[in-house]
Amino acid sequence: LKILFVTPEVEPFVKVGGLADMVGALPKDLAALGHDVRVICPAYGSVKRVGEWQALPDPLGVDVGGAAQWARTWQTVLPGSAVPAYFLENHDHFARPEVYTGPWGAHADNDLRFAFLCRGALALCEQLGWHPDVIHCHDWTTGLLPVMLNSTLRDTPLGRAATVFTIHNLEHQGWVPERVVNFARLPWSEMARDGITSNGMVNLMKAGLYHSTKLSTVSPTYAGEIKTPEGGFGLDGVLRYRAGDLVGILNGIDDTSWDPARDRFLPAHYSAADLRGKAACKARLQERFGLEVRPELPVFGVVSRLASQKGLDLLADAMAGIMEKMAVQFVLLGNGDARLENDFNWAAGAYRGRFGAHIGFDGALARLIQAGSDFFVMPSRSEPCGLTQMYAMRYGTPPIVRATGGLVDTVENFNEGWPDGTGFVFRDASVEALTNTIGWACATWYDRRAEYAGLQQRGMAKDFSWRASAGHYVQLYRWAISARLGS
Ligand code: ADP
Ligand code: GLC
Repeated sequence: LKILFVTPEVEPFVKVGGLADMVGALPKDLAALGHDVRVICPAYGSVKRVGEWQALPDPLGVDVGGAAQWARTWQTVLPGSAVPAYFLENHDHFARPEVYTGPWGAHADNDLRFAFLCRGALALCEQLGWHPDVIHCHDWTTGLLPVMLNSTLRDTPLGRAATVFTIHNLEHQGWVPERVVNFARLPWSEMARDGITSNGMVNLMKAGLYHSTKLSTVSPTYAGEIKTPEGGFGLDGVLRYRAGDLVGILNGIDDTSWDPARDRFLPAHYSAADLRGKAACKARLQERFGLEVRPELPVFGVVSRLASQKGLDLLADAMAGIMEKMAVQFVLLGNGDARLENDFNWAAGAYRGRFGAHIGFDGALARLIQAGSDFFVMPSRSEPCGLTQMYAMRYGTPPIVRATGGLVDTVENFNEGWPDGTGFVFRDASVEALTNTIGWACATWYDRRAEYAGLQQRGMAKDFSWRASAGHYVQLYRWAISARLGS
């Protein structure tokens, strides 16, 4: 199959969250199955030019707005594969460093920027003379692409492509002004029918959900949650309407890159058979965060966007109680919400030597935390899939998670006294539930060491690789293609 990924982020070039990990990994496994896969992403000012980059000779004309607009196209490959990745450079839309949000909030022209990405991706296919069988779109930024194929391009060779739209996070929908309809050169009649509009605005996520041939989301449990009023963020009606076209496919992880036996960002390596290197990682982690270097204390790690979705306000509120009652250490890496940044900086000052916080984004440090911690904390209020808990298990670090979305599908609760489970799961999004569960983990560390070791071993033995899920995506693509042909 010829498969095109259109995306706002891709590892290792530009990353805000797990979407980048997914788009940086899945295409390689699809290529390994023999498919012709390509990726298109904007060349933001901050894009990391990993590997060799070549500019395509011809400028790319992109049919948006009033006057002609142009992009310069850079070509490289996803590292460790032959999968072509194209980056569209355009000064007005993409020169600034940030992907979605600038210093003053979401960019006010995100509608135009990502409409440019959608039109640009389609224009590049034409320029390359490469007509994909299926175009795989990711979240709200790509929501107009299926609308373009269904309207102005319907009767062109490109318009025959099926579309698959993956929901990575329904919370961010892309509510934008109506002007995007003209800018994206969509027929104004789209505004008159249900599909892309909502309360006089355009909802880009909704556009994708209405217009794509098939839909997926990143875990089976989340696929169920988003069809309910509680979990649907206002779009549950659309998702119930399209329930017959929606599947939940669990994300995988890139287990070549995320491998404690080879990870080049770690000071020592280890595997399930020989965990000694993990102790060296822990010591380095404690030093790095200015904690007392004491192997006998359990270290609880956090790597996360600091957003309300992640439930870290619960941890901030639980901190004083935990620190008073338990002999534990904490390390936290994250950025986002200013209140939470302050709370955790404050905790680092108040519990010096026991609580370390690094406010920022640092891929190497994220890996050291996964390796050097004894537990990984993820109290998410909602979690479409979550990758960090899978990284934690692969690194022998049992996760403590709330039972929501993909966390339900990936972490099995520890069953005391039985050789069972891979982590600790709690239900209520409350300070008490989180505190009690951290207390339970702590007791397991101190009193049931053999059972703690069992948790580690079972987590490390899990196969979370993309190999299984890649096959499910191929089935989904074939299903979409036959539906598109029949429509
Ligand atoms: P989400 O996409 O909702 O943020 P995921 O668990 O799917 O959650 O993916 C998060 C990804 O971003 C992981 O690869 C994680 O290691 C990374 N990450 C999150 N916050 C940071 C940070 N502050 N520094 C480095 N990496 C981070
Ligand atoms: C989103 C979700 C996260 C998921 C990631 C990759 O950012 O918040 O749960 O793992 O996308 O699909």
